[in-house]
Amino acid sequence: MKTHSVMAFVGGGNMAGAIVAGLVRGGHPPAQLWVVEPNVAAREALVARLGVRALAQAEAALTEADLVVWAVKPQVFAAAAAPVAVHTKAALHVSVMAGVRCAALTAATGSARVVRAMPNTPALVGQGMTGLYAPPAVRADDRDRAEALLTTTGLVRWVANEGLMDAVTAISGSGPAYAFYLMEAMIQAAQELGLDADAARQLTVQTVAGAAALAAQSDESVAALRARVTSPGGTTAAAVAVLDQRGMDAAVREAARAAARRAQELSG
Ligand SMILES: NC(=O)c1ccc[n+]([C@@H]2O[C@H](COP(=O)([O-])OP(=O)(O)OC[C@H]3O[C@@H](n4cnc5c(N)ncnc54)[C@H](OP(=O)(O)O)[C@@H]3O)[C@@H](O)[C@H]2O)c1
Repeated sequence: MKTHSVMAFVGGGNMAGAIVAGLVRGGHPPAQLWVVEPNVAAREALVARLGVRALAQAEAALTEADLVVWAVKPQVFAAAAAPVAVHTKAALHVSVMAGVRCAALTAATGSARVVRAMPNTPALVGQGMTGLYAPPAVRADDRDRAEALLTTTGLVRWVANEGLMDAVTAISGSGPAYAFYLMEAMIQAAQELGLDADAARQLTVQTVAGAAALAAQSDESVAALRARVTSPGGTTAAAVAVLDQRGMDAAVREAARAAARRAQELSG
């Protein structure tokens, strides 16, 4: 029978909840999943929903954990790390915190076995996209474990150098907001064109989900898929002409560059 080791999560918020839920769905015994979470409401919710072991603060039993997932806000990382790290020097450390570099993870945890992950909110429904990076010295079996951990929330992709995590943050980390922004405008347009709010939302959300599913399953470029629904002189061509004229392409690219710049600034 497969044995399961203890995994400890530091921070039991949205992202930790998504990963823990994925692990439990995948058959990891909840009793082997420990969550350090000072917030009593968050702790009780995790115990009730997923049956994990919740700790109000770090304790010596954490030495049993061979994998630690860091899922607190970056600004509380240093304070959260101090009491945990004394017990977990021998563990693999996986961080989902935005903008905390591997050097900072190693300095705070006392371990060179560190992996950075940048998930996104569709992880909450098992449709996430996570970028992963580990320094060259991190062993293949540690990389495999980090990959298996995040695969419970969706797809994963490794990047070759740490600087590219800023690009991942700008595209898949912040990207759901770009898609929601487009959907907000489509829903508003639908209502202006006479559809009720419910129909506007359904038509918009399913269209975006369907376009993404088609792109994911197709071997063609997304440009080719767009060309296929854009007959000359037709309705889509009329719409795309306005998007071109208003500079949608430039706006999206500039937005992503701004996000990447901000990610770089935040990680110091
Ligand atoms: N959500 C996303 O889309 C997303 C995507 C990529 C990366 N991330 C990263 O994931 C991390 C967590 O994000 P989140 O959305 O899950 O945030 P969150 O819901 O606020 O979760 C963080 C949790 O950590 C708790 N906490 C605070 N101090 C702590 C301590 N000293 N020890 C243990 N737990 C402590 C917080 O409790 P209190 O509420 O009482 O402070 C909160 O419940 C962040 O670093 C973020 O950058 C998030």
